[in-house]
Amino acid sequence: MEKSDITERIKSLQEKKGFLILAHNYQNSEVQSVADFVGDSLELCKEAQKSPYSNIVLCGVSFMAETAAILNPDKNVYLPEKNAHCTMAQMLTPDAVLALKKNHPSAQVMCYVNSSAEVKSVSDIICTSSNAILLARKIESEEIIFVPDRNLGTYVSKSFPEIKVWLAPAFCYVHHEIYPEDVIKTKEKFPASLILSHPECQDPVLQISDFVGSTSAILKYVSASAEKEFIVCTEEGMLERMRIVHPHKNIISPLMPRLCYGMKKTSLQSVLSVLENPSDKISVPYPIAEKAFIPIKRMMDLSV
Ligand code: 13P
Ligand code: SF4
Repeated sequence: MEKSDITERIKSLQEKKGFLILAHNYQNSEVQSVADFVGDSLELCKEAQKSPYSNIVLCGVSFMAETAAILNPDKNVYLPEKNAHCTMAQMLTPDAVLALKKNHPSAQVMCYVNSSAEVKSVSDIICTSSNAILLARKIESEEIIFVPDRNLGTYVSKSFPEIKVWLAPAFCYVHHEIYPEDVIKTKEKFPASLILSHPECQDPVLQISDFVGSTSAILKYVSASAEKEFIVCTEEGMLERMRIVHPHKNIISPLMPRLCYGMKKTSLQSVLSVLENPSDKISVPYPIAEKAFIPIKRMMDLSV
């Protein structure tokens, strides 16, 4: 089937069956083009929560669909590609979190949304890249165990030197392997450019950045800026989206475009297949879902 025919069929099935299609900023541009809403992790949670539709197709990775399903037990959430996973979310087990809790019993566990439902279920509050700083301030704890991303955890700890932050060893290969030397070399080629980075990058990259924020925050920064050239340190799907939204701005990858293989699994065909045959909705078993709901809800309530 031609791409235009697939797109048309998606639109007609979506309307007929009453589905909301959400896509993360890292999805390829074809998938983004059929979505009702494209955004960062927190925005996707909010859109799923306020959706008038009870059926949601979430184009992203499994932890995103799981989080939407836990938060909205009355809705049916579908992930078009069953094996679309976040590598970082798979790096940490709940036992590793429990061991950290045992060593630091008065610390609150702040868990990045890029984690399994099991890890969330043993955490005190969930955060995303867009609200981690706000929530670390709001929970008013003198000690935080930050899991799983050690780079985002380092970013939080540097923002609050008065808080003791204990880190887990996980990281995102897409961001961790953007090296400061590569960013500096790119900047030498484009001296007028600004450096914009996702907080999953390593601290030396964040140190030389003009702005640090979530995927959507980076897009908003570019939209609001009068500048024309930006080196963007995050996954390539975000850069693709920015090039479409801002065709007259120069959106530059640091040396090599970085790809998240989990995010890139979803295609127009997989979106169509899930609409044609919406079986296998995401279901998080009891009591994990019930326990994980508490820290997710706490995040949603505190991040308004
Ligand atoms: P955002 O919440 O900033 O979109 O980040 C999600 C993610 O997976 C980054 O790698
Ligand atoms: Fe996970 Fe990294 Fe992919 Fe984001 S870019 S979904 S953190 S592997």
